[in-house]
Amino acid sequence: MAELRIPTLIPGFDELVDGGIPIGSLILLAGNTGAGKTLFSSHMINSSSENSKSLYCGFFESKEDIIKNANNFGFNFSKFIDDGKLVISEFFPILEEGITTIISEIEAEIEKVQPSLLVIDSISTLAGDLKNIQEMRIFLKMIHSITKSKNITVILISELPLNSKKMGLGVEEFIADGIIIMKYAQIREKIRRCLAVLKMRNTHHSMDIWEFEIGSNGIKLKPALEKDDMLLISNNMQFT
Ligand SMILES: Nc1ncnc2c1ncn2[C@@H]1O[C@H](COP(=O)(O)OP(=O)(O)OP(=O)(O)O)[C@@H](O)[C@H]1O
Ligand SMILES: [Mg+2]
Repeated sequence: MAELRIPTLIPGFDELVDGGIPIGSLILLAGNTGAGKTLFSSHMINSSSENSKSLYCGFFESKEDIIKNANNFGFNFSKFIDDGKLVISEFFPILEEGITTIISEIEAEIEKVQPSLLVIDSISTLAGDLKNIQEMRIFLKMIHSITKSKNITVILISELPLNSKKMGLGVEEFIADGIIIMKYAQIREKIRRCLAVLKMRNTHHSMDIWEFEIGSNGIKLKPALEKDDMLLISNNMQFT
């Protein structure tokens, strides 16, 4: 039987993943700074908030900025909040408090909100520095077990340093059911935005590199690249 999915409604994307993101899966959305990670998650919130509840946990941008940015792309987050379909929670991690405090705060939010979709933006800002890798493992295991038992779809956003071949902290990719990468590539004189789906549970998905643009309605995949441009992109960048 086909798995139930949340369509992203991003033009050109859902066709790549059998119609959308499998419900109840944990997706790692890793990308360069400014590549469009938060915007991708906003598309998902916009798509699911008509019928179900979303919880966005932010560690960097203020609630007002999240709402304002979403609004710029035509996503009416204020209405979703008023209708009780979206909760935006801001967290200000204090390093001395450690990860366990944040875990219990997020867990309490999940209990209170009972979301179908959870966005954590981002685990990189949360991790602080790599001294916390052990705590990060605990955090991810906890999020995994809390959300799996409740069939919550999770988007874990992770920063991918420019020029880095590493995907994140080296732990999250193993617990993820799906991995989407968003990166920049320089092709001739222009910087282009590209994305690829590296992994998606129970999904016959594309392994191609897709160029996308960000316009007034958000992300939009571009038609398949010309062969020589595609070759330049694949020579030019590492997705794994
Ligand atoms: N109105 C707009 N029209 C077109 N592009 C825009 C518009 N607003 C923002 N952008 C583009 O979207 C990018 C930001 O997208 P987004 O905030 O989703 O990225 P991000 O990967 O979450 O970044 P960060 O690493 O800072 O969290 C900007 O760098 C800009 O290029
Ligand atoms: Mg962001």
